[in-house]
Amino acid sequence: NQRSIPRHAMMGRQSTSQPAAASPTIKTPARPLALPPLLKPTQQTQRRVAYTVIARTGTMAFRAGQTTKTLGYNGNYLGPVLQVNRGQTLAITTKNTLTQATSFHWHGAILPGNADGGPHETVAAGATKKVAFKVQQPAATLWFHPHAMGSTAKQVYQGLAGLIYVRDRASQRLHLPQTYGVNDFPVIIQDRQFTKQHQLDYEQAYQADGTRGSTLLVNGTLNPYLKVTTKLVRLRLVNGSNARNYQLTLSNHQAMQQIADDGGLLSRPVAVQRLQLSPGERAEVVIDTAKLSQPVTVMNGRQAVLQLRPTTAKRQLGRLPTKLVTLPAATMPKQAQKRTLTFSGMGRMVTINRQKFDPDRIDLTAQRGQPQVWTLKNSSGMMGGMSHPFHLHGVQFRILSVNGARPAANERGWKDTVALPPGGVVKITFKFKDRGIYMYHCHNLEHEEQGMMGQIKVS
Ligand code: C2O
Ligand code: CU
Repeated sequence: NQRSIPRHAMMGRQSTSQPAAASPTIKTPARPLALPPLLKPTQQTQRRVAYTVIARTGTMAFRAGQTTKTLGYNGNYLGPVLQVNRGQTLAITTKNTLTQATSFHWHGAILPGNADGGPHETVAAGATKKVAFKVQQPAATLWFHPHAMGSTAKQVYQGLAGLIYVRDRASQRLHLPQTYGVNDFPVIIQDRQFTKQHQLDYEQAYQADGTRGSTLLVNGTLNPYLKVTTKLVRLRLVNGSNARNYQLTLSNHQAMQQIADDGGLLSRPVAVQRLQLSPGERAEVVIDTAKLSQPVTVMNGRQAVLQLRPTTAKRQLGRLPTKLVTLPAATMPKQAQKRTLTFSGMGRMVTINRQKFDPDRIDLTAQRGQPQVWTLKNSSGMMGGMSHPFHLHGVQFRILSVNGARPAANERGWKDTVALPPGGVVKITFKFKDRGIYMYHCHNLEHEEQGMMGQIKVS
């Protein structure tokens, strides 16, 4: 219910109610967490929902009195939430009002290759493109962002990213917290480096092994807090950063109950003390605030991400179900097509199977419906090395093993992005449900731009 979102917390408002920050040494005052608006469909029937998504330029006052040039979808920074029911056709009119090409990639969606918005489906400056696909995957938090060659990392950095919530009956019946902006909140975590002139200058911030910044933004809010009015609070965590990995904990050492990963609900809630979220990954957690008398902060190491402030308002009771959904067993299929992908190098030397991305080369082929088992190797590690977040388009996969062992309990659901630790080996299994050309790549966006990407043709 969009009405329940306090107006002051809406995205993109340029606050004038606070005095201009006197000096950078004064800590930014805490602000209410901005909530992306729920996008109003242009058409909605039982079978179909239609939206218009517009890439545009904007300005934001991340700090009071400072104006930053940004990019956003239908707004100044980031984008709205598109909601779709499982079984509906999602029809999106995408408009590019920028002066440069972009593309609209639906990260995590199971869809035909030509609707996926990868580097072959760019939308020229000023152009419009329509896509439509039937949503047949379970309830999940998906997201969308640009994917044009050479401009993905920069456009995401400047603010282009939005959310898609897939809903279904099975998840609705569980009575999980699901009232947007009341007990169910998106939490898009990004790190940025602001220049002295308060700008997001990508070229200046650029780092070949992943552009990172010292300032954290959550839904575009600096130093955010959230007033908690219910016992159970659901956070849909999205790592929308170019390259930073997060290790999320609660400041009071309480466990979070993880209920979903990238592609939907887990079979049961999993208590996590520390949640790793690599670029592109999502995790939904529920936090029980019943015993809180003090604010509790979601931390990334020693850095505050989001403060939860309990209020004295009467809190709804509520208990998490002990079982969520029945997932098919993640087992090694018989007669699978087996592939090995080796991720190597650092900085500008990154490759997959010793090759850099070439849009004119098909790297792999597969048949629709054919079981796949991919062994993903991260060959770095001798000199420290770094983690590569592997992402595959057009499917949700299951993790068979991480370094030969069963994946952690919170990684046993549907995934589309998985961290390959330095020197590590991750095995995944899946089937393509549609045809077309799909990308797979490192979701460290600077590595992706340097060519740590390949494409598979499914027929
Ligand atoms: Cu989130 Cu190929 O990307
Ligand atoms: Cu990488």
